[in-house]
Amino acid sequence: MSDFDFERLRRWPDVEAANLFASDAADHLILDEAADALESARPGEVVVLEDHYGALTLGASALHGATGIRVHQDALSGEQALARNAAGAGLAGAFRSLDLGEELLAGARVVLLQLPRSLSALDELASTVVRFAAPDVRLFAGGRIKHMTTAMNTVLERYFGRIDVSHARQKSRVLVATEPRSVPRELAGELPHAAWPRCEEHPDVGLTVCAHGAAFAGTTIDIGTRYLLEFLGRMNTDARGDEGAIDLGCGTGVLAAALALRNPGIRVLATDQSAAAVASARATMIANGVADRVTVVRDDTLTGRPDASAGLIMLNPPFHIGASVHAGIALKLFDDAARVLRPGGELWTVWNSHLGYRSVLNRVVGPTHQVGRNAKFTVTVSTRR
Ligand SMILES: C[S@@+](CC[C@H](N)C(=O)[O-])C[C@H]1O[C@@H](n2cnc3c(N)ncnc32)[C@H](O)[C@@H]1O
Repeated sequence: MSDFDFERLRRWPDVEAANLFASDAADHLILDEAADALESARPGEVVVLEDHYGALTLGASALHGATGIRVHQDALSGEQALARNAAGAGLAGAFRSLDLGEELLAGARVVLLQLPRSLSALDELASTVVRFAAPDVRLFAGGRIKHMTTAMNTVLERYFGRIDVSHARQKSRVLVATEPRSVPRELAGELPHAAWPRCEEHPDVGLTVCAHGAAFAGTTIDIGTRYLLEFLGRMNTDARGDEGAIDLGCGTGVLAAALALRNPGIRVLATDQSAAAVASARATMIANGVADRVTVVRDDTLTGRPDASAGLIMLNPPFHIGASVHAGIALKLFDDAARVLRPGGELWTVWNSHLGYRSVLNRVVGPTHQVGRNAKFTVTVSTRR
């Protein structure tokens, strides 16, 4: 076995801080549990899902000789971190990043997975593995015990006949799923593998919301988002740039779809760094008949947009990073919204009132007014100075 220095991995361009790490004990346990399978795999038979920053992919390559690894990560920042870490370790040629689907999983016999938090995300991953991988595929799904629940085993049991649970090590565990079922039990009789994305009608707001497993809020409408929807009619949609308006961190695209439906002449750009969000938002636009006016792209913040180019940005910022509550990501989104807004352009934001974002919005974007507040949320509009 050769050597690999996990300490050299970085999270960049994701938020970095002293209490946030680029690899964890679950990465090490997954690699150890899968060691024999990895070492006997032929080129192209190993797939890595939801690697955080590259520890699984680069560990499988450097420590266990896996080649032709195919990788899918929902977070663009994770994908970019893997690429940078691979370049730093001289392993850029060891893997390819792909969308969740057939090209990723066809013929896979060893799949490594950092368990996602959401059961829906796990459901879509497991169902896609079973749909496309080899009949003798082995899935090594690990995580920190504090984030694991027995409901995860139940999800895996829908798709696999056998689940073995590893011993615990450094507060981590691995579920080894084998004997994939040809047709998932609950879905037998329905279209077996067409369950994602799922769509739900919301007649109260006149929208259909479509969601892949890992998308924020699934097919429901988040209560903060629902509150921001009440203010759509007050947003300045006259200010037209190339983008018209931007839904930053669009998730399933609720805000973009609702704005487009309300303003038949407007063009909207919806962006998110999550692959599942982007696929979901595209499906939502089609379901609401606005796909011709809403462009959905995967981007980290608004990196692909020029300075001072937009008149309106809507944002319901995230405030959880993995397990740790951290304002870093919201601040990064505020910063980039400020860069992309033209002078006089508006940032409409909804946030949990206890987060007290008003002063930071004042400082980063421009004069910020509270336009609404309910028991939980505050809606502000910040005008770019
Ligand atoms: C609270 S959710 C809101 C989703 C959607 N706008 C809604 O209201 O239902 C925040 C979204 O921000 C996205 N996000 C997080 N970090 C991001 C980044 N660096 N760039 C773009 N989007 C990001 C997440 O993937 C998530 O979909």
